[in-house]
Formats: sequence, C-alpha cells, structure tokens
Amino acid sequence: MDVIKLGLGGFGTVGSGLAKILDANAGRIEKRLGKRIKITKVLVRDPSKKRAFDLGPDVAFTTDPKELIEGVDIVVELMGGLDTARQLILDAFAHGKHVVTANKHLLAEHGLELFEAAAENNVGLMFEASCAGGIPIVQTLKESLAGDEIVKMLGIMNGTANYILSEMTTKGMDFASALADAQDLGYAEADPTFDIEGLDTAHKLCVLIRMAYGMDYPLADIPIQGITGVTPMDIEYAREFGYRVKLLAHVQEVDGALEAGVHPALVPYTYLLARVGGNYNAVRLEGNAVGSIMLHGQGAGDLPTGSAVLADIMNLARKVEDGCVRPDNTGFGNRPMAKARVLPPEEAESKYYFRFTVSDRTGVMATITKSMADHGVSIAQAVQKGEAGAEGVPLVIISHETPAKAAEAMIAEVDAMDFSVEPCVKFRIL
Ligand code: NAP
Ligand code: HSE
Repeated sequence: MDVIKLGLGGFGTVGSGLAKILDANAGRIEKRLGKRIKITKVLVRDPSKKRAFDLGPDVAFTTDPKELIEGVDIVVELMGGLDTARQLILDAFAHGKHVVTANKHLLAEHGLELFEAAAENNVGLMFEASCAGGIPIVQTLKESLAGDEIVKMLGIMNGTANYILSEMTTKGMDFASALADAQDLGYAEADPTFDIEGLDTAHKLCVLIRMAYGMDYPLADIPIQGITGVTPMDIEYAREFGYRVKLLAHVQEVDGALEAGVHPALVPYTYLLARVGGNYNAVRLEGNAVGSIMLHGQGAGDLPTGSAVLADIMNLARKVEDGCVRPDNTGFGNRPMAKARVLPPEEAESKYYFRFTVSDRTGVMATITKSMADHGVSIAQAVQKGEAGAEGVPLVIISHETPAKAAEAMIAEVDAMDFSVEPCVKFRIL
C-alpha cells in the first residue's frame, strides 16, 4: 500500500494528538484513502525529551528544519512561534511540499505572504486546526458556505479563556488556578498571555475574516480586550442581570465596511453561546442565503486539534491523488487579498455594562446619570450595593445601544470626578 510520508515539525500537545489518532484510526484512514499516513520525521528542540506517544524506532528525530523537509510528502507545522515556523513553511513550499499548520499567530501575521508563496509553488497550505480547534470552521467557510455572503460571524474562539471564565462562573475558582488547570490540560499557548489577553482569539478572527470575506482585516486594526479585567464581582453582577461573561470575537458588515473586535461580553444566559462551557468553542455564522448556523466543539486539546490537522492531511492526500495542479488555499482562487474597509472602532455600537467604583455619598448617582444623559448614553438598568463608610462602592449600570465614542467620553468624564475611587470597568453586552 502507498504511504503518505509526513515531516512533523513539533511533537508537543497537538503533534502527539495527531500521532495518537493516526495510530488509533489507521484502519479507517486506509479505508478512506487507500493509503497509509506515516510520520517519518520529527523536528523538535530537545530530542531527548520524554514524549506523550512513542513513535517507534524507525522515526527520525532532528533539530534541523532543513532535514525535516527531505523525503517527505507533506510538512506538518505544529511548533508555534513565528520565525522558525515561517522559514520552515517557505522552505517546504520552495521544495514543492504541501503544508498543514495549526499556527494562527503565524497566519495572522504572515498569512498573506504564505498564501502567495504557496500559490507561486502550486502547493497546498491547509490550516483547519488554526481556528477553533476541532470545529471545522475553515472548511465550512471555504467549501460549505462558498456561495453565501457572510453577514455576521460571532463566537467563542479560545478554549483557555472559556475554560477560565467557566470555572470562575460555575465553581467560583480563582483566575490563576483556572489558568494553571488549562495549561496542564494542554489548552494554553506557550505564552498564555496570548489566551487571556485576547490575542489568540484575534489571530483566529483575522484568519477567519479572510476565509469569510476574501479580504484582509489587518491584525493591528482589530480592537482587543482580554479577560484579565473580568472579576468575580463582574461575573456575579452579570448573573444577577441574567447574563454570563464570555470572551467573544465578532465581525459584521456595516454599510460596506467591516466592524470586528475581540471583547469579554455579557451574553444573555438563554443564548446557546452562554451555555458553551470548558474548553469548548462555538461559532455562529449568518449567511444571506443559509441564515444562521452554529458550530460547537472542543476548541483546544490534543485529540480535537489533531483531528482537524488529520482532516487537512487527508484532504491534501486526495488532492495529490487527483493530480491537483493548483490547490485553492484561500477559497478565493488564491488571488491577492485587498485590505478590507474597516469601520473605525469608535463608530461601533453596543449595549454596555459599566461598573463604577464610587464614594457612597449624596448626589453621585445623579451626577453619573447626568453625564450619561449628556453623552447620549441611555440607561436600561442600574444597581448600587455597598456598605456605608466603605471607601468605594460598586455602581453597575446597563445601557441601551450606545456608540463606543459616547461611552468612552462619558467614562472619561466620570473617572475624572472626585468621587471616582477606581476607573470604570466596561464590557459589551450581546
Ligand atoms: P507545544 O505543546 O508547546 O509543542 C510545540 C512543539 O514544537 C514541541 O515539540 C517543541 O519541541 C517544538 N518546537 C517549538 N519550537 C521549535 C523550534 N524552534 N525548533 C524545533 N522544534 C520546536 O505546542 P502545541 O500546544 O502542540 O501547539 C502547537 C501549535 O498548534 C501552535 O501553533 C498552537 O498555537 C497551535 N494550536 C494548539 C492547540 C492546543 O490545543 N494546544 C490548538 C490549536 C492550535 P520540544 O518538545 O523539544 O520542546
Ligand atoms: N490556546 C488555544 C486555546 C489553543 O486555548 O484556544 C487552540 O487554538
């Protein structure tokens, strides 16, 4: 039987997940492809490290990226990081090798260059695992919804952040312990600030916008707010008002421009998105023909992510078999992607949750509500709790739909007042 030889760059969480699935599902894979898929070479930093899966004695380990490429059919980049991974992929293309990667950071920063290089060399660049782990969101946008205009895309795209918020909400766990658990479970990035500061979600959003619109929304233009400012107090207030706090990525078309961002948001607890727990992700797509679709599944971890990597490998193996001479990696004919027209973030509108921390004295509520009225911020609900004599008490206000510019101007005015004890905390409401 023919063998598809893989050069595996990186043998950590996802690499070992892929190896486990190749082993466990070998029969099924052979039945589908009529070929075996075999990891023949592995690139790592430390060949002496104990691995989560034993590949056997005939698999060569190397620390030299150039060596990985020789004699393999497909290069699978599961190292993470930018420089070495970028160079490995460009070298693979130059040698006529197809590439599968899970590296959303690299794709967000250098994706356009990589798409061009793959097209020039007539090779495939596949990246299903880069966005939302095991959820087939890239193929859904590229193939299943190829003919739809995507009106809106919204979702939970980071397993670590969702795990942390879920553990804080359901078990009252503190932030640091929940993050440590997510790291132990293999969900977090090598640098977990990418997860908790919303950067990883922004990388995925950047990649998915290209797949949805065939345009580039530069990473630097995406407003990003992570979850480090979400306190147990905010989670409790959100619960009282009927919401759960989730880290969301969103993009929508507004008058021919795209409006995108990554923010913690209060999601009504009756919405499916509010029920997405643990390392699970969910992406809600709205197409102008199909209507709305919700995809839900594990967004991180060895097997779910390995499953997406394997699907790309099998897809490429079939293309090679069919004699494909020019794989369409972007779904838009590999044409260069123009920059999207970006709606300035200050022009975006949302309902908001504001938590002010103020001195508990006469007239404070009246002054804040006057500032809100002056800036056109309409109040939907308000609550103040606290003990007399405390240095600062929380005053939480939920607004109606408000332009971001008006919300920011109001916050700047209130934060500068002498009764403000701490800066206002602001989250969007879905
Ligand atoms: P990981 O567990 O840290 O594994 C990284 C592997 O790459 C290790 O085997 C490491 O070698 C090797 N490596 C890193 N830099 C290298 C270099 N410069 N030269 C040679 N080898 C190098 O990472 P991971 O969680 O599997 O993630 C891999 C990729 O998948 C990342 O792009 C990540 O964003 C993405 N991803 C991860 C998940 C997830 O759930 N973990 C989900 C989706 C996508 P040593 O073992 O010798 O240190
Ligand atoms: N660190 C990422 C997450 C891995 O937690 O979602 C999956 O991309």
